[in-house]
Amino acid sequence: MRKTVLITGASKVGLALARTFLANDYKVIGTSRSGIIHDIKHPDFQSLSLDLSDLDSIRGFERHFQGNEVILDMLINNAGIGPDLDLEFPGEDSFQLTFAVNVTGTTFFTEQMSRQVAVGGKIINISSKMGSIAACELTDSVAYRMSKAALNMYTKILANRESEKRWVAAVHPGWVRTTLSKSNINGRLSPEESAERIFEFVVSDFKTGIFWNVETQTESKW
Ligand SMILES: NC(=O)c1ccc[n+]([C@@H]2O[C@H](COP(=O)([O-])OP(=O)(O)OC[C@H]3O[C@@H](n4cnc5c(N)ncnc54)[C@H](OP(=O)(O)O)[C@@H]3O)[C@@H](O)[C@H]2O)c1
Repeated sequence: MRKTVLITGASKVGLALARTFLANDYKVIGTSRSGIIHDIKHPDFQSLSLDLSDLDSIRGFERHFQGNEVILDMLINNAGIGPDLDLEFPGEDSFQLTFAVNVTGTTFFTEQMSRQVAVGGKIINISSKMGSIAACELTDSVAYRMSKAALNMYTKILANRESEKRWVAAVHPGWVRTTLSKSNINGRLSPEESAERIFEFVVSDFKTGIFWNVETQTESKW
């Protein structure tokens, strides 16, 4: 039977990831805040609206399925923001929005949607090596780093809870040429290269509860 993957934030790295899954015969549900993703026209692609900063949008997400139970083989929490990336310290609104999307929204969305992930399925959180406490030597991007560290902790807790039922991992997608921050224009990987490496990892028999760096193709320190 064909597999289904739900990818949040499927309009940038997530767009390349959605295309990679489609090319590998998956059915893909992708989200963006507007619910419109112009760049994919494919019969196996469904785009839906989701705003992770809005708990009503999260709670209402299941209405998209109109009572039909959807069984997911994979949930990939890719959506994330970094308005204070490269800055020394964020303003209050920027700090709160970063946590609302990367931590609160992503956690509550996962709690809601993990029930729809098949036993034996996978839940992947797209994190960042900037969230690694062990590797942190700099002082910039306080909200972004803290939010990804919190997401890493949630990944560990989820992996412990889901043990024997679903496979869970955090993934650093590499430094990718996207619109995440101004400096991303210099990223080492194209979205397509990052997506290909994420795909290879998520379809592999990885050990649950790890933090994987697709750029070095090695386990990362939490
Ligand atoms: N690019 C890198 O070098 C890099 C490095 C490490 C980690 N990451 C992580 O990789 C993931 C993808 O990043 P990216 O570089 O593709 O970023 P991006 O180009 O800024 O794209 C962010 C994605 O998140 C969605 N999004 C933004 N606000 C949202 C909200 N409130 N609710 C739901 N979705 C929202 C956006 O969709 P819409 O705007 O269409 O709604 C978009 O699809 C993020 O989690 C990021 O932290 C990226």
